[in-house]
Amino acid sequence: MLLPDQREEGSVYKKIYKTRDFKLKDDDINRYSGKTFFLKTYGCQMNERDSETLVAILESLGFSEEKDYTKADLLLLNTCSIRENAHNKAFGMLGRFKHLKEKRPEIIVGLCGCMAQELNVCEEIMKNYKFVNLIFGTHNIDRLPELLDEAVAKNSQQIEVLSREEDLVEGMPVIRSNKYKAYVNIIYGCDKFCTYCIVPYTRGRERSRKKEDILKEVKSLVDDGYKEITVLGQNVNAYGKDLYDDYHFGELLEDIAKSGIPRVRFMTSHPWDFTDKMIEVISKYPNIMPSIHLPVQSGSNRILKLMGRRYTKESYLELFDKIKNNIPGVSVSTDIIVGFPGEEEEDFLETMDLVNYCKFDNAFTFIYSERVGTPACKLKNNIPMEVREDRLQRLNEVVNNYFLENNNKLLNTELPVLVEGISDKKNMYYGYSDTNKLINFTSDNELNLGDIVNVVITEVHTWSLDGRVK
Ligand code: SAH
Ligand code: SF4
Ligand code: F3S
Repeated sequence: MLLPDQREEGSVYKKIYKTRDFKLKDDDINRYSGKTFFLKTYGCQMNERDSETLVAILESLGFSEEKDYTKADLLLLNTCSIRENAHNKAFGMLGRFKHLKEKRPEIIVGLCGCMAQELNVCEEIMKNYKFVNLIFGTHNIDRLPELLDEAVAKNSQQIEVLSREEDLVEGMPVIRSNKYKAYVNIIYGCDKFCTYCIVPYTRGRERSRKKEDILKEVKSLVDDGYKEITVLGQNVNAYGKDLYDDYHFGELLEDIAKSGIPRVRFMTSHPWDFTDKMIEVISKYPNIMPSIHLPVQSGSNRILKLMGRRYTKESYLELFDKIKNNIPGVSVSTDIIVGFPGEEEEDFLETMDLVNYCKFDNAFTFIYSERVGTPACKLKNNIPMEVREDRLQRLNEVVNNYFLENNNKLLNTELPVLVEGISDKKNMYYGYSDTNKLINFTSDNELNLGDIVNVVITEVHTWSLDGRVK
């Protein structure tokens, strides 16, 4: 058994990470032929991308995917720790698995992802969810074949969670869930240690992939006909700082743009290290989408400081203006937390002021959720839940108005849209514009999925736009 600890921010160490290649043993291939798995993924794009690798490993072991969990032989949850409700959902699902396991003891239940990296979660499972066969973390996905064999062979709970990130593993298999859009990891982990956030503990320290490995993956996606890639990192702006003196995110983005992929997106960008080089590259290459996710979290300097965000309201706005002034037609989206410990009405009103200034194209708004082991968890939070909920509601009203106001400006304009499918509800094609707006649209001629077409906007809503192909 290997349990995680949760590293304190103080224990900073810098390690040189090596890269090794993933290899599946010959006798592992198809060893589980005829068996099925059910995989449920919570959380962010990183987890979705990890799940694409889990699926590929499981399929090379001979499993096939079963969407109905009551019928599968292996039940796996790829979990998220970011807020309490993600945590609760995973435990809720484990509760359902428990009933199944009582009826069919032979099924294997596993839990991986960010929650596995939390010691308190492992302890809870060891105590109250003894039927869970297998727990592994975010740093040892490549060990799945061996861990699964052990879980099947031994009739006890197998836990292998590494506290520290190890070498980067390249060449892990992947079965992508979309034929036109792909995620490409460029940097793992996070060193920012925002005081409310659990990610640095569950994903470890920043490790950039080598530029050659990234560009090779991008090239193979271009060769396979992919139309859009989203470059992923908890903070993509930190790319390369651990590896190279003069090759950072701006340079990488430029090389990716030159690969010929029709569309490049990236997320997430921490405002702290958003460079002029990045702005220059984004505005220079038409295939880099003018859409930037720039989480602000709060508009109050006092709260930003308590959050450990490393910027002020003023420096955020300076960057925001620079982006708006230098990247034509850019859309900017954000994340905001309300109810952080000590947030007074005045602090909240400063967030509202900032929102009224920025008029974001999209905003993900959250009530602060206490995460065990984070520094903010030690702060006293005496904001009543009704106040937090009220702030969220007031904030949502304002941000939603701006979504609509921004969308209204797009009426009768023409936007390039990647055709992704036909929506069941509207029986219209759907896809996203360059600025990441969801567009439902009609066309006189039949369209191929994966095409990029120009759509004239005929109707606007808060969260989507309707149009027709020109
Ligand atoms: N790396 C990204 C964020 C990943 S988490 C970044 O820094 O931009 C996505 C969002 O979840 C964060 O931007 C934050 O708004 C929210 N979040 C993170 N921890 C939270 C917590 N403890 N409570 C509420 N929201 C949280
Ligand atoms: Fe969390 Fe902050 Fe890192 Fe984003 S930058 S993952 S919010 S610690
Ligand atoms: Fe959740 Fe882990 Fe992503 S905590 S948001 S799945 S990095």
